[in-house]
Amino acid sequence: MDYLEITGGAKLKGEITISGAKNSALPIIACTILTDQKVRLSNLPNVVDIRTLLKLITMLGGGVNHNNTIADIDNSSINSTKAVYEIVSQMRASILVLGPLLARFGECEVSLPGGCAIGQRPIDLHLKALESMGAKIEIRGGYVKAEAPNGLKGAKIIFDKITVGGTENIVMAAALADGVTTIINAAKEPEVVQLCEMIASAGVEIDGIGTSELTIKGTNGKALEFKETIEIIPDRIEAGTYLCAGAITNSSITLNKVNHKHIRASINKLEEMGCEFELKDNSITIFPPKKLKPINLITMEYPAFPTDMQAQFMAVCMIAEGESIIEERLFENRFMHVSELNRLGADIWLKGSVSAVKGVQKLYGAEVMATDLRASSALVLAGLVADGVTTVRRIYHLDRGYDNLEGKLSSLGASIIRKKEK
Ligand code: EPZ
Repeated sequence: MDYLEITGGAKLKGEITISGAKNSALPIIACTILTDQKVRLSNLPNVVDIRTLLKLITMLGGGVNHNNTIADIDNSSINSTKAVYEIVSQMRASILVLGPLLARFGECEVSLPGGCAIGQRPIDLHLKALESMGAKIEIRGGYVKAEAPNGLKGAKIIFDKITVGGTENIVMAAALADGVTTIINAAKEPEVVQLCEMIASAGVEIDGIGTSELTIKGTNGKALEFKETIEIIPDRIEAGTYLCAGAITNSSITLNKVNHKHIRASINKLEEMGCEFELKDNSITIFPPKKLKPINLITMEYPAFPTDMQAQFMAVCMIAEGESIIEERLFENRFMHVSELNRLGADIWLKGSVSAVKGVQKLYGAEVMATDLRASSALVLAGLVADGVTTVRRIYHLDRGYDNLEGKLSSLGASIIRKKEK
């Protein structure tokens, strides 16, 4: 198993390019199930989760030609509608094939995603919404068995909670439904917006894109056709992570191929910490202050502060001058990184969904263990400033969602090496 060895203290400088967004590419790959025509996707991030979903498409019988950031997908040959546990257990986002498979084929079986380190993460809202569109849903042997032999019907759906995956599954299901579907309390994340724009580009009428109320007029079973290449939007979480690398190492760095509107909440919080920024068309440069100020932050749905940036900001707060308060409101178990960061000499305490991070003068390198994707990036950030060597293990978590993190950090001057356990 690979691990990372980081020697702290290096100043970063220069510029890097941000990759395509994992959380946009995943629903877009699932969305290709809605067509029997060829689709080209570009700017795909080179991460494990993308390869896992493309493998699932292949297991369903679809044709995939994946070359680095480009994938040509041809789902005219799909001959199975069963998404097996072997794949879904590796990546819960595989649940995003449920809506498109049911909409196009009228029936499917998708393994229930198991538990997850950051929380229970049920899919009850996805299933309830599909049932209101006329689907018959059963849970059998760890699988969701869904049927809609006469196709799905348009419906009015009010989500009890804002759910990104739920919104994405229902937007895709509604695209081929008979009639109009209205989704109220829909997610507004940029990744949801790109999925809606992709479906609209195939001629489906969608109103309210980017708002919490979406209206989709279905094609009544007619498969879609995507004429243009779909270029994946930049990864706002990857961009936020590198801005935190600049802040925590007191280094001015530039990120290219960024949509800085999508990272407004992270920029705001870094400004509160005393950082300044230069924004250009699609690049951003951070200018950190000598001393970082503490902040209070609460994770919420977009456009508020993203839960996927919580761990990285906790790492930055560890060296701020004073006490920061961080509240996690989306996932009930997303503080697994706290005990690992405290191993590096941080002073963080937890009470339920709230943590207090007392800034410390110095951190010291140590062995730490990654527990989930974003937690692992926070450990790497901490290693960049900790005195001596920090060893980060179980980095398979990192590889799921960061494209060549150690290569990009090395190109900025960090001392970070990937090694194989003997
Ligand atoms: C997406 O997960 C992202 N994943 C997550 O990023 C991100 O943390 C999350 O949205 C929130 O922004 C992808 O896009 C692949 P939700 P998703 O449904 O869709 C509860 C990363 O680091 N809920 O918006 O699974 C749920 O338990 C990952 O890249 C229900 O109760 O998140 C959570 O508390 C981690 N019932 C809340 O809603 C449901 O049916 C938000 O979850 C669905 C969700």
